Amino acid sequence: MQLSLDGQVALVTGASSGIGAAAATALAAAGASVVLNYNSQPEPAQKLAADINACGGRAVAIGADVSKEDEVEHLFAKTLEAFGFLDILVANSGLQRDALVTEMTLDDWNQVIGVNLTGQFLCAREALRIFQRQGIRAGVSRAAGKIIHMSSVHQVIPWAGHVNYAASKGGVEMLMRSLAQEVSEQRIRVNGIAPGAIRTAINRTATEGEAGQELLKLIPYGRIGEAQDVANAVVWLASDASDYVVGSTLFIDGGMSLYPGFYEEGRGNG
Ligand code: BGC
Repeated sequence: MQLSLDGQVALVTGASSGIGAAAATALAAAGASVVLNYNSQPEPAQKLAADINACGGRAVAIGADVSKEDEVEHLFAKTLEAFGFLDILVANSGLQRDALVTEMTLDDWNQVIGVNLTGQFLCAREALRIFQRQGIRAGVSRAAGKIIHMSSVHQVIPWAGHVNYAASKGGVEMLMRSLAQEVSEQRIRVNGIAPGAIRTAINRTATEGEAGQELLKLIPYGRIGEAQDVANAVVWLASDASDYVVGSTLFIDGGMSLYPGFYEEGRGNG
């Protein structure tokens, strides 16, 4: 199956590193023009845009803090200025500020909810306004636009020590499904991806050495995920190959959300 995004424009938030960078690279390789949004790290996003352009793709890097309404508006205005259209939003920016709940500051809470949940709302709202104005671009895609919300296995797996993060991702799931219900009749597809443990900067300490070995006990498939595993799913969800997929979450987690702790238990060994 050839997944072509020729003639489409994609915006990836949080594209400086990790899953966002891999998704932007894969979307560009599939033929999309790509906007790489960054917040605190301009250099890696600018370098990735330069690399994509050097390989014959089309990319620009644009800064914005997705938790700020005016910066998000500016990001989408600049996207249209650069490429004229928008067909795909990958709402990917996310962060962790971990602490036991009694130690968690309001600032830890607000920052995580602000970027991971409010940021996804603000970006989706701008994308939807553009998709509604554009309508279906004949010959480009069967849909009038596609939004992919980057969630986490923690939209379903409770996570002690990370209540802000788990709450934000639970919120992302309901944001995604409610938006899908609201806009599908306009031929706009809204879906989510729930990655498990992916080897990126956000969880470097958890995936390396002894901690990495412990983590493997939670992954039935027996390996830590790579950003490319998620990027492949992003391209599929953005393409017409998934045209009938609406309001779904794709778990890319090596089985982490299967509650592997119940394996021994279920075989009578628990
Ligand atoms: C988190 C990672 C974590 C993984 C599995 C992700 O959403 O960002 O830090 O390792 O979930 O628990």
